[in-house]
Amino acid sequence: MTDISLLYDRSESDEIGIKLIANDMNIDLAFLPFHKIAFGFGRKGISFRSIGKDYSQELADTKVILNRCQSKNRRIYASLILENIEKAVVNPFFVESVCASKVNNLLAFSKAGVRTPTSVYIPANVKESMPNNLELDNTRDIIKLIRTYFNSQIILKPDGGTHGRGIKLTNNDLELSNALKDVIPSIINPSGVLVQEVIPKWFYDLRIIVSKEKGSFMKCAPTAMVRGGFKDFRTNTYLGNMVFRVNLPLVIMEEAIKAGKAIAKNSEATVIALDAMPFFEDVSVYNEDKIRNLFTELEKPFNKVLKTKNDPSKKNDFKSYSNKIKDVYENYMSSKPYIKIQETLQNSLNDCAKEVVFHEANACPEFWEQTRIVGGVNVGALLLQTALSLIK
Ligand SMILES: Nc1ncnc2c1ncn2[C@@H]1O[C@H](COP(=O)(O)OP(=O)(O)OP(=O)(O)O)[C@@H](O)[C@H]1O
Ligand SMILES: [Mg+2]
Repeated sequence: MTDISLLYDRSESDEIGIKLIANDMNIDLAFLPFHKIAFGFGRKGISFRSIGKDYSQELADTKVILNRCQSKNRRIYASLILENIEKAVVNPFFVESVCASKVNNLLAFSKAGVRTPTSVYIPANVKESMPNNLELDNTRDIIKLIRTYFNSQIILKPDGGTHGRGIKLTNNDLELSNALKDVIPSIINPSGVLVQEVIPKWFYDLRIIVSKEKGSFMKCAPTAMVRGGFKDFRTNTYLGNMVFRVNLPLVIMEEAIKAGKAIAKNSEATVIALDAMPFFEDVSVYNEDKIRNLFTELEKPFNKVLKTKNDPSKKNDFKSYSNKIKDVYENYMSSKPYIKIQETLQNSLNDCAKEVVFHEANACPEFWEQTRIVGGVNVGALLLQTALSLIK
């Protein structure tokens, strides 16, 4: 019998990684699928089964669920269902539902006095269906409303998006009008338009992990992962940007704890990844040309990382793949250009620590490679410790 189960819809690196960490921590972790299963409830009691297997007993035996479904909406259903049958869930439904919407995140930060970008939500859809097959085009009015807040550059975001998808930076009315054409109500943007001021973050942002065990305080990991580069204003690595580690100045850790509390409210236990950006009034004090050249030099060691990511052993021998990817990341982190860029990152972050703004909270962050190896934060271990705190 196992007390902790990992709920998943696709078992990927993070999920296999959590299993490896559980082995090291002597935790007997069970896996429960939450994709092609059926959850039955009502007059005949509760059942949980796939086509080939009945998991009802496993579910009944489980006390704590680590909810690692990839789909935000599936995670919301999972936490809702499981809490209703008296299971403790990490993250709880409350945290999942706040994290599902950027508007919701930003409101929570703002209410708690956490520094956050100026954001504007316009409830109207760009195009609206009218009777008699007519269509109302609100583009001009939406642009006028936006222009009452921002004059030129703005960022457009789908409320529930991830991986930078659908995030656009526009410089003028024409670009804005074109970008609005793609803002169509969907599962990641149910209604309206969300825009945000462009934060002068120079070339990087931060991924900060906060966590709270039952009976304890919210804590912030002392190191964070930086994503950065000049390839795209979105710092995602699939767009050609790279990753680094920084030590967090105390003021940022304190602000992160405030941000974590704003999202978790009264939740007993949680693990949250916060996205934050530095805010630079003036970067002319730093030598950007030099940094750009260093990024070009860093491509070679980083490409070795990218090549290893496609190593076929990932599928059939995850442990040896994990050792390989750790080695290449460590090589990359000990290369000269990495060390020099990291030094500038650390210094510039120390300089602007009080100006950092928080723009998002993520309930199910990817962690096995970048956050764990480069960022220095083992989210899997935090998840398991948090789950254990709910059993004691
Ligand atoms: N207001 C802003 N000003 C400048 N850059 C921004 C702003 N908002 C977001 N970005 C950049 O765009 C990228 C994606 O932002 P955000 O976290 O809001 O979207 P996401 O879809 O949740 O992406 P991810 O899953 O990578 O976190 C980040 O790299 C961030 O630095
Ligand atoms: Mg984000």
